[in-house]
Amino acid sequence: MKGIFITLEGPDGSGKTTQARHLAEYFQKHGRKVVTTREPGGTSLAETLRDLALDPHLPVSKITESLLHLAARADHVEKVIRPALAAGRVVICDRFSDSMLVYQGVIGGLSLDVLRRLNAFATEKLEPDLTFLFDGSPEAFLPRRRARGVSDKFEAAGLAFQQRIREGYLLLAGQEPERIAVLDATASEAEVTRAIVKKVEKFV
Ligand code: TYD
Repeated sequence: MKGIFITLEGPDGSGKTTQARHLAEYFQKHGRKVVTTREPGGTSLAETLRDLALDPHLPVSKITESLLHLAARADHVEKVIRPALAAGRVVICDRFSDSMLVYQGVIGGLSLDVLRRLNAFATEKLEPDLTFLFDGSPEAFLPRRRARGVSDKFEAAGLAFQQRIREGYLLLAGQEPERIAVLDATASEAEVTRAIVKKVEKFV
């Protein structure tokens, strides 16, 4: 059986983790073995790099930040994702190369073209078969972000930042509509699951 590589993208609090679980259950019900993983992370080296890349006490340039994420991604692809796909598994990954294009590219100001080439180098050209973009207005995700303690006193600046992330993702989705499916992540949990399953069934 051929492996399937699915990535979930979108802002914090948009429901990616919950839907990753539902999607894994869907495939398992259909007799598929599933690997659920995340970026940055997924291997012990990549989890260590994650701590470094996301540490607010270790300010680094966008270039350094990108290289930390790329090293994490290279290790993750080599040790976890490629072997799982080769064994015919379904790999569901919370964030992947598109996160870099948005966070270090659109937001961070680094060239998308350069980041695409670096991603291709780090992953040896591995691209997701299907990507779900969890889209919605930043305001709609605010309660969930608040509940997780993500939001803070800089809420106004936070919302503007989240809006830029949203626009960045929508830009990518516009460039690759075949691969990137845009979901209304403000719909109910069950509705989002239905939309995902519908798209997956079409793909499979
Ligand atoms: P995380 O707490 O996992 O965010 P979320 O709950 O939204 O998945 O933190 C991951 C952070 O790392 C997120 O802010 C996006 C960022 N990131 C990058 O900047 N570049 C990357 O290549 C990746 C994979 C993530």
